Amino acid sequence: MARKILVTGAFGLAGSDLVPALQKKFGKNNVYALGNKTIPSDFDGNLVTGDVRDKSSLERIIKTHKITDVYHLAGLLSVGGEKDPELAWDVNINGLRNVLELSRIYKFKIFWPSSIAAFGPTTPKVKTPQHTSIEPTTIYGITKLTGELLLQYYFKRWGVDGRSLRYPGLIGYKAPPGDGTTEYSVHIFYGLLKENRYSAFLKKDARLPMMYIDDAIRGTIELMEAPASKISVRTSYNFSAINFTPEELADEIKKLYPTFKCAFDPDPIKQAIADSWPESIDDSVARKDWGWKHEFTLPKMTNVMIVGLKKKLGK
Ligand code: SER
Repeated sequence: MARKILVTGAFGLAGSDLVPALQKKFGKNNVYALGNKTIPSDFDGNLVTGDVRDKSSLERIIKTHKITDVYHLAGLLSVGGEKDPELAWDVNINGLRNVLELSRIYKFKIFWPSSIAAFGPTTPKVKTPQHTSIEPTTIYGITKLTGELLLQYYFKRWGVDGRSLRYPGLIGYKAPPGDGTTEYSVHIFYGLLKENRYSAFLKKDARLPMMYIDDAIRGTIELMEAPASKISVRTSYNFSAINFTPEELADEIKKLYPTFKCAFDPDPIKQAIADSWPESIDDSVARKDWGWKHEFTLPKMTNVMIVGLKKKLGK
């Protein structure tokens, strides 16, 4: 059966890199990008528009294009969620429920991202294990925990093949940085190239798990392509690469741009969110089950971010 892939949230932080990767692997004609508000005018591929909360329009897309795989990325992030918790619940949960319900009928495979935000203050902060105390305090984290349990429920009850990763902070240059707590690590590169300075909205020692986007996209596709027999976790896999503090990232940039100035001016809401999340993640189950392995270190990520963003900004 020909693979036909739908990506929701196609133009967000992960989607902007996932769609071209899927187009390359499966052919441009076999990938459908679902966007809602922010659709770049130069997008090259199959475009479908709609809102994931509207089940009948999603159903129409899935039926018309005989979709076999859905990467359901549409959702609000942590800071955006705190600005409008009702909207975060509506989009993140009702969108996912629509996808899960439609998968019962049309039998497509699902990827859905969870996050380190599913963890909370009672979770061990260092090398957080796969199975642990999980009591998120942000609405975003609550939607992620709920989503993980729904995914597992639909798998056990209905055989829906949903797969998931607890994404750390993702760093990429293709999409403009959005409303995430970890996204100081993207904004900092814009500050560097535009003004040679940046003021971080987290404390200088706020250590968080992070990953360069190419690693995240490769891991995501590898998980989806793994045989079902290798998938032992049906909530969401711990998924990790590097971790660093804002100060460590600034110091890494200074190795290449010694005159770069970075200040640290924590925003209380964002800092409180960061404080509730782990510093590092134990992802040995993903590594054992389906062979996950990251490639990008902090210096390598810093280098490719600068090269890529320079080109994007025409610097
Ligand atoms: N990057 C996300 C955020 O900061 C975490 O999943 O909201």
